Amino acid sequence: MIRLLFGVSLLVLLTGCSGNQSALNTHGHSADALKDLIILVTAVCTAVFLMVVGFLLWALARKREVPRSDNDAERRMTLSVRIAIAFTALTVAGLTIASFYTTSDLNSGNDATVVVRVKAQQWWWQFNYRGVNQEPAFQTANELHIPVNQDVRLELESLDVIHSLWIPSLAGKLDMIPGRKNIITMRASRPGIYRGQCAEFCGLQHSHMAFVVVAEEEPAYQQWFAVQAAPAQEPTVAEAVVGKAVFMNKPCAACHTIRGTPATGTSGPDLTHVASRHTIGAGLLETTRGSLAAWIADPQTLKPGNNMPLVPLTSDELRQISAYMEELK
Ligand code: CUA
Repeated sequence: MIRLLFGVSLLVLLTGCSGNQSALNTHGHSADALKDLIILVTAVCTAVFLMVVGFLLWALARKREVPRSDNDAERRMTLSVRIAIAFTALTVAGLTIASFYTTSDLNSGNDATVVVRVKAQQWWWQFNYRGVNQEPAFQTANELHIPVNQDVRLELESLDVIHSLWIPSLAGKLDMIPGRKNIITMRASRPGIYRGQCAEFCGLQHSHMAFVVVAEEEPAYQQWFAVQAAPAQEPTVAEAVVGKAVFMNKPCAACHTIRGTPATGTSGPDLTHVASRHTIGAGLLETTRGSLAAWIADPQTLKPGNNMPLVPLTSDELRQISAYMEELK
């Protein structure tokens, strides 16, 4: 019976949050440890719940005995309450100790080979990578790449309000607080694409503050790193060549950086390799020429409240800029 109920509750949890953003579908040692803790706490709490219901049913069903004396009844009640208190204290202490040992071991990867400074903003993620001598190398937006089987240290900062970084399949979550640096470490145990999400309400577009984590083998990671560190490709198609000029002459260049071009704005995401990313708008849309054009045409309808203003463009200019963006692989 307990097994059945436990199985059913676990199934509800699993189907409720399965896939690449699930704390129960884990592929990293931090997330594995947390999953074990979830299962332990769920099992203990289910057992306690069943015991309480069992005692309640037993108390309701049993025939009322006439107590031998008031003293006798009093003594039995005192004993029952003492046993219940001792049992509760033991259970709570046991779970507290298990929780302490699990979480104290989580961020122990101090000799991480990959260090990424993460700066959360309303409502997107900036990932700053460093080179071999820890000098700033490049930044991406809403997409984090990590090598598998290596400790990765994320240094978390926030620009505006409190956000919370959570990649359920790889690690626990940690707050990102303006003016403070928090550290989270993780290690992916197998290649895959995982989803991260802001886990703390941070305003209008909190639910549209997702990102992609690509865990890959070392050679693939190094290849990705080299591509990202390089400046932007020059456009080849005629439409894109014009698109580049339009981009540079419009307000776009004041907010976005495209390395290797005069665009050096810093308030919006770095677009040097925007088309290499899986999504735009922090997980909002899959990256295609159509979605890029739609976003540029009307960012406030797609994601109300974000900081990108509407830049008036003719239909030709919109096509040209989106052709240029599509070539920024
Ligand atoms: Cu950032 Cu919720």
